[in-house]
Amino acid sequence: MDLKTVLYEKGILSVLDQRRLPLEEKRVVLNTVQAVYEAIRAMIVRGAPLIGITAAYGAALSLKEDKKTWEKDFYRDLEYLSQARPTAINLKWALQQMEKAFETAKGHGRKAAFEELIREACALRDEDARLCRRIGEHLQSYIRDGGSYLTHCNAGALATAAYGTALSGFYVAREQGKTIFVWVDETRPWLQGLRLTSWELSKGNIPHKIIADSAAAFLVSRQKVDAVFVGADRIAANGDTANKIGTYGLSLACRAHHIPFIVAAPKSTFDPDCPDGDAIPIEKRPGGEILQINGTPLTLSDEEGYNPAFDITPFAHITAVITEEGPWIP
Ligand code: MRU
Repeated sequence: MDLKTVLYEKGILSVLDQRRLPLEEKRVVLNTVQAVYEAIRAMIVRGAPLIGITAAYGAALSLKEDKKTWEKDFYRDLEYLSQARPTAINLKWALQQMEKAFETAKGHGRKAAFEELIREACALRDEDARLCRRIGEHLQSYIRDGGSYLTHCNAGALATAAYGTALSGFYVAREQGKTIFVWVDETRPWLQGLRLTSWELSKGNIPHKIIADSAAAFLVSRQKVDAVFVGADRIAANGDTANKIGTYGLSLACRAHHIPFIVAAPKSTFDPDCPDGDAIPIEKRPGGEILQINGTPLTLSDEEGYNPAFDITPFAHITAVITEEGPWIP
């Protein structure tokens, strides 16, 4: 399942515009470091691994123009890109890989360094696709023929280079001939479930239905869900996990009803510098995002919204954290 979320072809970097999906399939060309920063900030690209890969290409673009100050500007641009969104650690991880590649390549001059960094960003993209596929294979221990599962937000091909993390298990299950069914949380306020997860599950021929976020705990309580699968934006050293707002509530429902709650993420999502969930920065997006849908106001203009984009699920609520290497324990 490769939806060409990010492509570098014939010298042009382009991304699928995730704000418009699924009603419009449009690509956006990103020519500059600033365009990459804005695309991440404005959610044109989103999902922790994809944010990192796109930023990696952005770092390479820093070297595209012939400027006397290219070396100094590169470090400034790395810092700038790292500020695009605060919670997904994959962003900082990918930029660190690019910095390492730059240290080796810069001695060969700007042009050679640019080409080397583009190669490095493409390698990160290809590696992400490979790791996501591995995660999907490891997830098979939790997916049975005839099972019904629930997912929140979008941790699929659209959030990565290919396959996804949480959704990768569903694609591999289907390839293996298992029949499964997926409940898709709509995921207010950006509707990643309603718009993105449903779209890619349809492309993957995986039967599913969209539910309001507020219906999830009820379905869990009525034994309609065999397990919940989610991705992660950052996993602290003790296993506490930041993921899309609403994940924590789902984990509580699963705990109360003894339903497995599985987190799927590549090792680049782990942050050993955060001892626990309290140390993970939580992005606060504009309150106005929850008062409208697609620019149409849903309430009176003097109302105010409060909009944390992520929450923290304690490790104690998580049945298993599955990485490309298999189950992880702190
Ligand atoms: O705000 P978003 O859409 O970037 O949030 C995405 C999520 O919370 C995903 O679950 C997470 O990044 C994992 S993606 C494999």
